[in-house]
Amino acid sequence: MEQIGYGIDIGGSGIKGARVNLETGEFADDRIRIKTPKPATPDAVAATVAEILTKAEWDGPVGIAIPSVIKGQVALTAANIDPSWIGTDVHELFGRHLDEREISVLNDADAAGLAEVAFGDPVARTGSVIFLTLGTGIGSAFITDGHLFPNTELGHMIIGRYEAEKRASSAAKDREELSFKKWGKRLSKVLAEYERLFNPTAFVVGGGISRDHAKWIDHVSVDTPVVPATLRNRAGIVGAAMAVREHLTP
Ligand code: BGC
Repeated sequence: MEQIGYGIDIGGSGIKGARVNLETGEFADDRIRIKTPKPATPDAVAATVAEILTKAEWDGPVGIAIPSVIKGQVALTAANIDPSWIGTDVHELFGRHLDEREISVLNDADAAGLAEVAFGDPVARTGSVIFLTLGTGIGSAFITDGHLFPNTELGHMIIGRYEAEKRASSAAKDREELSFKKWGKRLSKVLAEYERLFNPTAFVVGGGISRDHAKWIDHVSVDTPVVPATLRNRAGIVGAAMAVREHLTP
């Protein structure tokens, strides 16, 4: 029997949810998307998550991916989300809004990384993989043979004089109107530093810009294989559903 789970991905502009076939990593129904409320306070976001689950008629376990460090099920950072998340007990928050059910809340890049390693390019299936998602910020996940070391936050590493995500996220590329060549070189500098310190077996690069990888990959000169993510915007939802199935509560 195929195993079905439910994942939610909380983003800056939309909150998305879908049933996930945990054997294939495919969606098992149509994704539901509701605009992120403004301001995106914890209670407003949790109410939107409840709305998605009601629409989906799903009352089983749910995994929730969010762009924050989640430690002991408490949100500790808010780099690109409402500052009121800092210090929020996310288990209590979602428990109050989503009735009695199992809930796992984890960092969005950690969720996406879990999914990519399980269902993406086979290069990333074994070994010590660093998954990166390049969007508004840079999210990261360390995964060794499918096991997650959560909350790594490599996007905030200072490389040269700047925080990595301020220079090499895809938002930085858009903001500064950089060519793929110029941006690729910046990314290369960031990856070289990660390589020097962590020596992964592969980098898996996700986020919208992974679709254009043919345009920048040649400007990235590191020894570690760099493979584009394949799940695209499905990864956060799929990884969140995997996390709750595995009872992960970072
Ligand atoms: C946040 C991370 C998040 C990443 C991608 C960063 O700014 O600090 O927690 O994973 O953006 O959304």
